[in-house]
Amino acid sequence: MKFFLSALLALSFTAASANAKDLVVVVGGTGQSGIEVIKQLQADEAYDVRATTRNVERAKETHGEDIDWVSMEVQDVDQIRAAFKGADFIISTIGARTARGPNGPEYVDYGGVKNIVGVAKDYGVKQFVLMSAASAGKTDHMLNVAVNNVLIWKWLGEDYLRDSGMPYTVIRPVALRNEPRGLRGVTFATMGNYDLGYIARADAAAIMIDSLQNPAALNKSIEIIGSDDIEAEQWKTLYAFIPTDLKPLDTGEFSDGQ
Ligand SMILES: NC(=O)c1ccc[n+]([C@@H]2O[C@H](COP(=O)([O-])OP(=O)(O)OC[C@H]3O[C@@H](n4cnc5c(N)ncnc54)[C@H](OP(=O)(O)O)[C@@H]3O)[C@@H](O)[C@H]2O)c1
Repeated sequence: MKFFLSALLALSFTAASANAKDLVVVVGGTGQSGIEVIKQLQADEAYDVRATTRNVERAKETHGEDIDWVSMEVQDVDQIRAAFKGADFIISTIGARTARGPNGPEYVDYGGVKNIVGVAKDYGVKQFVLMSAASAGKTDHMLNVAVNNVLIWKWLGEDYLRDSGMPYTVIRPVALRNEPRGLRGVTFATMGNYDLGYIARADAAAIMIDSLQNPAALNKSIEIIGSDDIEAEQWKTLYAFIPTDLKPLDTGEFSDGQ
């Protein structure tokens, strides 16, 4: 009888482990890239998905009730702690939607990223994937004039993650477009070397998901660019050409941050 019971327990434990999926929290799930990440994760049997928004009712109306929405403002650490409970992985696609004021880039792309990286690290999250921008870190750029130094704040957010000591991948797309996945190929470049062209949000989402648990993507900052000169999905072979990050790029007067 004793043997029967322990065999039963062992069996049920094996079944439970086999069914256990890793939980990915998508920060900024209502965004145009965030929703792509959610859709692709929902189709992937390896993962459970939770998504954050500042307005759950609006998110449900716009994107449906079959997504596990949680209310989270990146400046509210208590909300972040609640939203990240049980998370194995974080994919952040947040970006400031206003140029100035309390929800501008300083408080979302930098302050907000600092807050979510801090909580993810506290919780022992296995990997943090941050969607940034190919031109982040450039001081002399018209976007800095138009959007209150957005490229500097984004860079400082990236750097906070790079310096955090937690496993990460920074994905730096060029201009984003809403096009189907795999319509074009994607090429990779090292950080700071490319900011022309465009890429489909669906391809950027696929790369962010592919980087989860992928040793070839770990602790790297990767520029991603749509290309007609390469086969769709061939990007999976390109991680090897991007070196692991060694040290932050010098951003001069901005490097001390706030
Ligand atoms: N547009 C481009 O061509 C381009 C090019 C390169 C890189 N990027 C970067 O790629 C990322 C994704 O871009 P996207 O155009 O797909 O994004 P998006 O549609 O503008 O979505 C932004 C997301 O950020 C969330 N958010 C904004 N402020 C927040 C706050 N204070 N607290 C919590 N969440 C907040 C929004 O959520 P709620 O409003 O639901 O709360 C929304 O889900 C951004 O970092 C963007 O800067 C964009």
